Amino acid sequence: MDMIDMLRTAFHQQFGDKEEELRYFFAPGRVNLIGEHTDYNGGHVFPCALTLGTYAACAKRSDGRVRMYSLNFDGDGVKEFDLFEIAYLESDGWANYPKGVFHQFIEAGMKIEEGFDIVYGGNIPNGAGLSSSASIELVTAVCINEWHSFGVSNARLALLSQRAENEFIGVNCGIMDQFSIALGKEDHAILLNCDTLDFQYSPFRQEGLALVIANTNKKRTLADSKYNERRSECQSALNDLREEIDLAHLCELTADEFAEHAHLIQDETCRKRARHVVTENERTIKAVKFLKDDKMEEIGALMKASHLSLKNDYEVTGFELDTLAEAAWLHPGTIGSRMTGAGFGGCTINIVKEKQLASFIKETGSIYQEKTGIQASFYTAGIGGGARELTKEEV
Ligand code: GLA
Repeated sequence: MDMIDMLRTAFHQQFGDKEEELRYFFAPGRVNLIGEHTDYNGGHVFPCALTLGTYAACAKRSDGRVRMYSLNFDGDGVKEFDLFEIAYLESDGWANYPKGVFHQFIEAGMKIEEGFDIVYGGNIPNGAGLSSSASIELVTAVCINEWHSFGVSNARLALLSQRAENEFIGVNCGIMDQFSIALGKEDHAILLNCDTLDFQYSPFRQEGLALVIANTNKKRTLADSKYNERRSECQSALNDLREEIDLAHLCELTADEFAEHAHLIQDETCRKRARHVVTENERTIKAVKFLKDDKMEEIGALMKASHLSLKNDYEVTGFELDTLAEAAWLHPGTIGSRMTGAGFGGCTINIVKEKQLASFIKETGSIYQEKTGIQASFYTAGIGGGARELTKEEV
């Protein structure tokens, strides 16, 4: 049964027969090619939207209730809340993400008086760092926006969803995930300047190469608190630099300028964090140029440098991600490999020669399993479009 049939059946079971009224929405997951932990430092990122994502089947109600059910958390049953009384509840688990989005629309002054019945279902592995949370936020945002004909742009939906995550959930994430999910484009990566939100699409379809996501299957622990800790370390580095130079964000500095002023940062750990951010921003801009010129070997070298900087300076990789990337670097079919997303577990992103794909998966997987005792999962990633309502033909 395909996803749409599963949603339709579950909707019928949970909320009754509203077949005629149902509308369907989709928001992808994302993978970042390069540019990690630069977004909240005013830098560049280079992510793409995946063909994997979160689907929602939705019907409007005539009262102010919202009822939600997820096929991915079917043990949790139906979660319910009132539009006039939206509060974060620990026991609501996953449902806090869509709730936060409803909350942001209302906070922004948009009138939502009638609620919805919604069934969600998705194929993004949870907790793998492929942004299943931003994906459920955006599928909800598009649903509200389309149904009420608010005409809010996708860029603004991304900002609303980011604010939901920052303020309602309490994770201080940057804009990369929500933006790439809202504005993804088939077969293209997005170079986004996170300071100005200017962006450009860059074609990513390389003859004979595959984009492979490898999941460490290591549960991400303490990721949210460590993420927030990294943000404050960057802020502290910025404050020290501001004692002598006029600076809005760390990423305004080139690597050379940073080297010249690094001594201003008092704490050694904060200095390392800032060095990662500044050099990563430069690597990202270089990688986009190399991609335009088809210089794939050079991109591979930048991906490796990115991983090592995230390991040594930013310290967000850990044994499993390091082992998986190192195993990939050994394989002759690998063009590039690095951790992707926030880190602390999750996935690596790999560019692999298609002809050697099977042997890449076999050999990388077996080295990883031997060293960690964990079996990795591999997905060949398709780059898809952004968050949207599905057309009649698609459902
Ligand atoms: C998470 C956050 C993003 C970004 C990445 C690291 O995915 O949600 O905003 O900071 O980590 O690059």
